[in-house]
Amino acid sequence: MNKFVGKHVVIAALAVLAGYAASAQAADVVGNAKAGQGKVAMCIGCHGIPEYRTAYPEVFRVPKIGGQNQAYLENALHAYKKGDRHFDTMHAIAVSLSDQDIADIAAYYAAQTAASKNNPDK
Ligand code: HEC
Repeated sequence: MNKFVGKHVVIAALAVLAGYAASAQAADVVGNAKAGQGKVAMCIGCHGIPEYRTAYPEVFRVPKIGGQNQAYLENALHAYKKGDRHFDTMHAIAVSLSDQDIADIAAYYAAQTAASKNNPDK
């Protein structure tokens, strides 16, 4: 009897947790491009350089993210954060960002065009 109840309590708890996680994800985190502008200083060093190549610790290509689709950028950052997408430096950076930071930064980069003022050409 106790075992039976215990099992159901666990299942109920898991269901609640799953529901919570789902609603936490859906909780509309709205990106603000203006706020994002103040959060990209650490990105420009890599993403804003000509040819999009870093020199340290080794030369590798850095993707252009300015003007990229907002949802795509958000997904990419969440993927680096969770470890679904692997790249050490991007993972290190992404884990330091909150969901709001990610939304803001994605909004900022998505709003960039070649003609944007202060466009570090990323
Ligand atoms: C140390 C250099 C470096 C810094 C700093 C850096 N990035 Fe990156 N980023 C990269 C590299 C290299 C890649 C490509 C990694 C790969 O192949 O997955 C990348 C990939 C990305 C991608 C995926 C692009 C795509 O086309 O899929 C996004 C989005 C991104 N970075 C956003 C950012 C943001 C936002 C910041 C600042 C908060 C930042 N990065 C800081 C080097 C950097």
